[in-house]
Amino acid sequence: MQEVIGLFPTPFMRATRVLGGDLVAGLIDHFSRSVTQANSSSPNLVHTALLRPGDSPLLVEAAELLNPLLPEYGALLFGERLGWSLKEMWVNVLDTGGRQAMHNHANSFISGVVYLTRTHADARTVFMRSPGGTDFAFKNDHAGITTGPYNADKWISPLPEPGDVVLFPSYLMHAVPINPGERRISLAFNAIPTHLDSWGYRVSFSG
Ligand SMILES: [Fe+2]
Repeated sequence: MQEVIGLFPTPFMRATRVLGGDLVAGLIDHFSRSVTQANSSSPNLVHTALLRPGDSPLLVEAAELLNPLLPEYGALLFGERLGWSLKEMWVNVLDTGGRQAMHNHANSFISGVVYLTRTHADARTVFMRSPGGTDFAFKNDHAGITTGPYNADKWISPLPEPGDVVLFPSYLMHAVPINPGERRISLAFNAIPTHLDSWGYRVSFSG
């Protein structure tokens, strides 16, 4: 008998049709008119300012639909159904030719994306193994290799439909390749638990 055990996997949650069509249309209409922040990695990518759920009834409605996912996903990260809150939300408008550089989200534990428009297959969110390290690296990387979960550097997430949501640990590096399709609009968010407790060493968080 032989077996291979995938050690310490990273949870990635995908929930389809979390936001309904009317809410998605309302968010697109309202927030695509409030994008004010340029992105340093691409002239074709703009964001809204960081928003709180209370900033708009549309965000309150979105938060009510997203909130149930947080303790469920958070239990995978921390082994307990903690209280969670959406800390900030923002809308990204990625026009044709735009891209989002590789990044992760600081001062947060769960991050997520709600896809509002259709996404071109080439502009799906890509997740990367952490590129860290300051030493020389060795690789076996050429046309003849088979790529799998143990040697891949990146993973291209499934093609989302409008209203679909993904959740991932905030430390996970991610990016959006050049968008050859139409304007791609997404709502991103960060969430924090009420607290973490390591045998009495306890930290509390507030957004
Ligand atoms: Fe991000």
